[in-house]
Amino acid sequence: ELSPIDKAKFAAARRAVDFVEDGMKVGLGTGSTAAWMVRCLGEMVREEGLSIVGVPTSTRTAELARQVGIKVVTLEEAKWLDLTIDGADEFDPELNLIKGGGGALLQEKIVATASDQMIVITDAAKEVAQLGAFPLPVEVVPFGWQTTRGLIEEMLSSMDVMGRQTALRLNGTQPFLTDEGNYIVDCHLKRIGNPRQLSLVLNQIPGVVENGLFIDICDKVIIGGADGTVELRD
Ligand code: A5P
Repeated sequence: ELSPIDKAKFAAARRAVDFVEDGMKVGLGTGSTAAWMVRCLGEMVREEGLSIVGVPTSTRTAELARQVGIKVVTLEEAKWLDLTIDGADEFDPELNLIKGGGGALLQEKIVATASDQMIVITDAAKEVAQLGAFPLPVEVVPFGWQTTRGLIEEMLSSMDVMGRQTALRLNGTQPFLTDEGNYIVDCHLKRIGNPRQLSLVLNQIPGVVENGLFIDICDKVIIGGADGTVELRD
């Protein structure tokens, strides 16, 4: 028996795979909600003969996709994608997102941007009026990361945000490493006044590879409920 939160995540994932058609190239997101979607797609491949290829956004997702029988290809092989289905950490009324809680924001953004459509699957708890309660992940190269972090903090002091604390993400006592071998600086901003501007400014800082703000990338959000119902936003 699934917990209420898993029921909600499953309901959203189940609805999202209705948008997957035979022959599609599909971006496969990362996280616990996206994992339900990968399992659903695997079942459709195995039991309904659905023919798709998947481009995973993390080594974790690649492993799961192979396990459930989805043919995995690289983004280079796929060249472009019909659809990406992924989770998110927060979404606002304009369907802008914070992602990267699972540390895969860089590949997630590359894959979503290479897709004709991005569908986000969530539960209602991730809906916010304004982004920022969830700490914004910023991927930075290890070289000189303290300097990069200092530049991020300096920049934040002139931005419309409520909090300005930053923290290097850890895995035990060591820096957390992304799939690309980078670090993540989590920015505790509480409320982001202008996500579009913040995203642009962050990505101009030397050492910053990418940030977890997804602006104008998501086309549709599917919100799952614990009772199995779903709500669509687009
Ligand atoms: C992964 O890097 C994130 O962007 C995920 O999409 C996010 O953390 C959502 O994960 P859950 O579905 O587990 O909440």
